[in-house]
Amino acid sequence: MNAKVFRFAHRTRLLAPSMILELMKLMGQPGLVSLGGGLPSADGFPSEAVREASHRVLTQHPREALQYTTTEGLLALREWVAARLSQRGLAVQASQVLITSGSQQGLDLVAKMLLENGTQVAVEAPTYLGALQAFAPYEADAIEAACDDAGPLPERLAELAGARALYLLPNFQNPTGRCIPHARRVQIAAQARSMGLPLLEDDPYGDLWFDQPPAAPVAAHWPEGTIYLGSFSKVLAPGLRLGYAVSPLPVHDLLVQAKQAADMHSSTLAQYIVLDLLRTGMLDGHLDDVRIRYRIGRDAMAQALHTHMRDLATWQIPDGGMFFWMTLPPQIDSASLLPLAIKHGVSYLPGAAFFARNPMRNAVRLSFATESPARIAQGVAALAKLVRHTLTAQSGQAQ
Ligand SMILES: Cc1ncc(COP(=O)(O)O)c(C=O)c1O
Repeated sequence: MNAKVFRFAHRTRLLAPSMILELMKLMGQPGLVSLGGGLPSADGFPSEAVREASHRVLTQHPREALQYTTTEGLLALREWVAARLSQRGLAVQASQVLITSGSQQGLDLVAKMLLENGTQVAVEAPTYLGALQAFAPYEADAIEAACDDAGPLPERLAELAGARALYLLPNFQNPTGRCIPHARRVQIAAQARSMGLPLLEDDPYGDLWFDQPPAAPVAAHWPEGTIYLGSFSKVLAPGLRLGYAVSPLPVHDLLVQAKQAADMHSSTLAQYIVLDLLRTGMLDGHLDDVRIRYRIGRDAMAQALHTHMRDLATWQIPDGGMFFWMTLPPQIDSASLLPLAIKHGVSYLPGAAFFARNPMRNAVRLSFATESPARIAQGVAALAKLVRHTLTAQSGQAQ
């Protein structure tokens, strides 16, 4: 077939940073300790409960569960989401909830609604790579909010005036694992409100806390100006592809129209199964198990980093989520080092991928969600050895 038959739209050039796609190809090597992937632990999936729920749904509601449904999603599921968020301090009605095909679709629909060529969208530095990928085809400029270890600096938000939205990850951020403290959330919401800067709050990790739940969502402090995205991927399983977007009503109506054009509705069958699961009351017990599992991974990684990396790198220990963010010495370029790391049996994600504008080249994201404690220790030890070796070789060259 002749590829020249097709004349591709300009946006196809903006689809995905090729560096990451190339790196992903290297990561399938057998035996590799994968600290690079962002997948939840498959050992923690509630497979048996999903099997039983699927059986009940297909026995009791086969005609409805296999039929088209409303674009907004099943009312009972939307009511469950509204009640759950209200318990967490964000008072919402089911009429504001749109069930999406993962929160990734929420990012796409919001971008479709707000962004176009000549506009700006503000993001944290660093931010979720998948959001940068979702925003890119809409041709807006992604600009970076000034951040410290506690998130965007409220006193610097004025620099983002005119942006169509500020994209925020308040809980156990991907990639850094940090949380925005309560007081900072209040300040960000107040400042954004005074500037008329809408907020897009993405919260797939909020339930994965280890010691205590995070503060109420930022949306609770400015509900009329915030779109909140949630997901069942990290609390149940990503293969279900279910998430939700909660927004003020005029925004909600537009999102529903955009979703209808995109895919009519999220899988009816998956919605029935999740609703059945939630009605059994299994979620909180299941989340306790997931938290214990991830906490063990977090502790294993903290211990391994302390043992092997303490003179080489800096990091914060996350209180939840799936990731450590580690800063290596400035002479290390983590993207260039990755092919060698993979040869030495360990992968990570280079920090540069998570920046819209000014990449940090010496940072890496490490996941503690997928590998066993023993393999986490093995991977961190291999990485430390490689970094040490690289630094010695570089200083030899410099002399
Ligand atoms: C910050 C963040 N937002 C959104 C998503 C998308 O999740 P999903 O579409 O599975 O709900 C992810 C997935 O890893 C994520 O880390």
